Amino acid sequence: MNPVTRTLDRRQFLKSATASGAGLLLLKSTTLFGAATPSKKLNVALIGVWGRGLAHYNALKGENVVALCDVNETRFADALKAFPGAKTYVDWRKCLDHRGLDAVVICTADHTHAHIAMWAMNRNLHVYCEKPIGMSVEECRLLRAKYLEKKNRIATQAGTQRHALPNFARVRELVRDGAVGELSGVFAWGNRQLRRPGYLPGEGSPPSTFHYDLWIGPSPYHPYNPGYFSGGPGANCLQWNMYWDFGTGQVGDMGNHTMDLAWNAIDAGLPTAVEAKGEAFNPDVTPVELTAHFDHPANQWRPAIRVSWYQGGHLPTAPKNYIDLNKVGHGVMFKGSKGILLADFNSRMLFPVGDADLTYYKVRSKDQLTPPVGDFQEQFYNACKTDLKTSCNFDYNGLMTEQMALGLAAYRAGKRLDYDGKAGRFTNDAAANALLKRPYREGWPING
Ligand SMILES: NC(=O)c1ccc[n+]([C@@H]2O[C@H](COP(=O)([O-])OP(=O)(O)OC[C@H]3O[C@@H](n4cnc5c(N)ncnc54)[C@H](O)[C@@H]3O)[C@@H](O)[C@H]2O)c1
Repeated sequence: MNPVTRTLDRRQFLKSATASGAGLLLLKSTTLFGAATPSKKLNVALIGVWGRGLAHYNALKGENVVALCDVNETRFADALKAFPGAKTYVDWRKCLDHRGLDAVVICTADHTHAHIAMWAMNRNLHVYCEKPIGMSVEECRLLRAKYLEKKNRIATQAGTQRHALPNFARVRELVRDGAVGELSGVFAWGNRQLRRPGYLPGEGSPPSTFHYDLWIGPSPYHPYNPGYFSGGPGANCLQWNMYWDFGTGQVGDMGNHTMDLAWNAIDAGLPTAVEAKGEAFNPDVTPVELTAHFDHPANQWRPAIRVSWYQGGHLPTAPKNYIDLNKVGHGVMFKGSKGILLADFNSRMLFPVGDADLTYYKVRSKDQLTPPVGDFQEQFYNACKTDLKTSCNFDYNGLMTEQMALGLAAYRAGKRLDYDGKAGRFTNDAAANALLKRPYREGWPING
């Protein structure tokens, strides 16, 4: 493969292809990455067609949606209006064997993400998976390892689409350019509070059009209750994501978006130690209130830092007492020797500390700014057809989601744990290693 062709984006490729006869020949005869040429539409399966799935329809209209999968058959009528001719499936395992697939978009409940993504990568399919890509440390590690094994063949994108907001790049630039001086600590928080007493009691039976057993999928069985499915489109996840067997609470919900704002700016790998505390442990429900601290070693441009996650009303200390962090629903703070940077998804504020006068910091010129990501979903489809490069692949997001899952494991262990990121093991408490994975129902292997 010509390395130049690899790096061209779809539009560039089409432009150069139409400008030369040779290009046209190449368009017809070359198959990039065994999947598609830039001018060819991808054959995509959308798994989970309603709710968050709806937010993918616009970008998917530029591709061939050949398969639609949902455990709720009543969702197909509208989906087929958008994608007529697609074949429908209720079982994602069968859907993944649809002939000629190039890519899958996964918008199902969290407890099936890692399974579907692994099975899809095993079939050499490009994968866009809504966040969180995994619920346990083990799931994140398996996904990341599989992606790294296949990264010259497939593209992956974790569904943290806020990453494309220009503020993400501006925050990274400020941190990297030294606007806070030498970085010492990073604090991220979210204030969504969904308090649930425990799994819902069994109530009624699912309608014949709803395949509840397939919805439960790999998770331990819990009886049906319509309450799990009573939310509006794109918000129904809030009806099930607090329960350990279906989600990871705010860690996998807004936490995946908010920690991304921090993670994007710190070039971190896995932490070497983690500790967490929160409300009393509930075997059914993930904690609302939680604080987790992660120790990260130094890298080439910054010293060792501590990264912290706060949720459910827990908050770091504000830089000034006239700043009320309660009013920043989802935010990040970067603390350094010369200043503090406070940001949410769309805005940022810099507070020089003491008598720091900002002369230590050089503002970038316009032409030095990070180029915009553009449309986040389109970035994925373009990557599938060209250079396989996305902003939030399973390497980048897998490390971050593993870290967040480590926070929940440390919360359950109730102690500070030393972590060997290479081996994926706690080194000072063998029993705590049991918390790195979650139980599966028989017959639902993750690596199928
Ligand atoms: N990126 C974002 O901003 C964002 C926003 C909302 C939700 N999400 C994520 O999207 C996912 C879905 O959230 P939601 O609120 O749409 O949930 P939901 O419960 O409404 O499910 C979405 C659709 O998937 C179907 N589904 C569920 N399990 C399935 C399975 N095993 N096989 C096939 N179809 C299945 C449902 O029937 C439904 O049609 C969650 O993981 C959530 O974290 C992301």
